[in-house]
Amino acid sequence: MVISVTPADAHHQAHAHALAVELGLHYSELPPSADAIPFLSYSSLGVDLRLSGPSAPGPVRVDFGAGDMRHRRRAGKNELLGRAVGVGKRDNLSVIDATAGLGRDSFVLADLGCQVMMLERSAVAFALLRNGLDRGLASGDGWLQAACSRLRLECVDSIAYMAAASEKVDVIYLDPMFPERQKSARVRKEMWMFQELLGKDEDSEELLAAAFGRASYRVVVKRPARAPALPGRAPGFVIGGRKVRFDVYPVT
Ligand SMILES: C[S@@+](CC[C@H](N)C(=O)[O-])C[C@H]1O[C@@H](n2cnc3c(N)ncnc32)[C@H](O)[C@@H]1O
Repeated sequence: MVISVTPADAHHQAHAHALAVELGLHYSELPPSADAIPFLSYSSLGVDLRLSGPSAPGPVRVDFGAGDMRHRRRAGKNELLGRAVGVGKRDNLSVIDATAGLGRDSFVLADLGCQVMMLERSAVAFALLRNGLDRGLASGDGWLQAACSRLRLECVDSIAYMAAASEKVDVIYLDPMFPERQKSARVRKEMWMFQELLGKDEDSEELLAAAFGRASYRVVVKRPARAPALPGRAPGFVIGGRKVRFDVYPVT
């Protein structure tokens, strides 16, 4: 699918054009004329993903300082993920999030003190992530800036990245798109847009195999609670929640 970058107004034409050129996307001064076509919009609020047409859901942008991220933190919802990667057992964990997506899990890990390299192969997701990260770093909010300063980002296929890297990190974290999520009526708006845009992650087994060569402590895979484990190797142990679980593969 061809995605265009569109300026919200005349002030953002140069930014939108530069982003399109950098990421190999199309530049268009106007949103798509047909309904339900995804496009990136560049405005004073940042970069967001929209669907064209009058009945489209609201835009999706990466906002690490949003209320739901703060609520997730206060409500202790980050603990399962933290336990899965080993927060509390080791200090200053280095993590590669090889399926960064909208960066929510990466941000949680950074907030828990991990140094996180986010890898994302979709140019659209990368554009949203980088803009969210830039806004977080410039926010003037000490908590948000501190967590964002522990995040780095590359637009790359993680399998190729891990094959080329020579250094190991403590943990490799994977959350590949799971097709059955599409059947849930309660699937979040942004994940629905991403599934429409990105399709299934067909190479998760290969991604898991590549991760074992680069992790020195654990590989962690997020799965829907009742989904099978990724094929290839059985997890050493599982940390289960109501909707999702984390399959943990200790590396010895
Ligand atoms: C389910 S989403 C991840 C959501 C993420 N955990 C979050 O908290 O926002 C999966 C993402 O992984 C990316 N992805 C899947 N396989 C990848 C690969 N081999 N290299 C880089 N990115 C990959 C997809 O493009 C998609 O954006």
